[in-house]
Amino acid sequence: MKNFPWTTMPTGWFQIAWSDELKPGEIRPMRYFNRDLIAYRGASGQVHVLDAYCAHLGAHLGYGGTVVDDDIICPFHHWRWSCEGCTVDIPYSARKTQAKRIGTWPVRELEPYVFVWHDLAGAPPSWARRFEGVTMQPQLLIENLPDIFHFRYVHGTGTVPAFVDFSTDGHRIHSRQEFTAPLDAEGEDLSAAGYGDFDVSVQGLGILLTNINGLGVSQSACVTPIDGETSDFHFTVFVPRSVPEQQAAGLYRLQFKLVVEDFPIWEHLCYQERPPFAPEEAGPYQAVRRWVPQFHRHEPSKP
Ligand code: FES
Ligand SMILES: [Fe+2]
Repeated sequence: MKNFPWTTMPTGWFQIAWSDELKPGEIRPMRYFNRDLIAYRGASGQVHVLDAYCAHLGAHLGYGGTVVDDDIICPFHHWRWSCEGCTVDIPYSARKTQAKRIGTWPVRELEPYVFVWHDLAGAPPSWARRFEGVTMQPQLLIENLPDIFHFRYVHGTGTVPAFVDFSTDGHRIHSRQEFTAPLDAEGEDLSAAGYGDFDVSVQGLGILLTNINGLGVSQSACVTPIDGETSDFHFTVFVPRSVPEQQAAGLYRLQFKLVVEDFPIWEHLCYQERPPFAPEEAGPYQAVRRWVPQFHRHEPSKP
């Protein structure tokens, strides 16, 4: 591309396949990030992505290689490589194992997508955590959005956010909220970073994506119900490299703190089907309550 200023491959999660393209036992050669790679699904069902060339004498593992369990056997001299890139068998040698020699790539499969993490310097993926078995339903996280006053009482913010926009559209919600004072994370002043402008996109009950404008931080909160009581809460935070390391660490701590602060409230909550909303909170909150039924196949119970 003419004039494009970047000569290196960018950092981030990138889709490399759809799930159904990776059938168990098949090896898919691919070229991304200026590198030759292979992707395969092992017997465990996990997808593995490795550098394509055998570290013995350089055969391409994607042309004639064989998947056995979660390992791969090179077509050239049948050295066997684990999904961690280590030699686990040399069929004609007394020495069977060797340390890691083939590069491996972090993989996340979110059906129907398969993503790999690329970072030129080999930095690990962005901060991500699964909170397992949280006592909540996904709707409660979405209701955090219009619930501007809980920020003051549950999360300890100096002010409550003001809505710049709040609209529902089919299965989506878009919300933009501004905090007029920075959040206070254990005395850390984040105001210099322009903290406070939240652009949120909700896609159904399970996916809530937030961009914190000014900082360039984005995060996703994806809640998946296990049963009628509990859910897994998947939380990922992306902080751009332009944010200094110490500040990035503060941001991770802050986001983590905000998430877990809601848990005890949710754990003991008795859901109010027709809350007596105060006028200051009613509009967007009621909009969410009107938006939710499209995701359920029966009427809510009457009080
Ligand atoms: S090149 Fe792969 S086993 Fe020799
Ligand atoms: Fe909250």
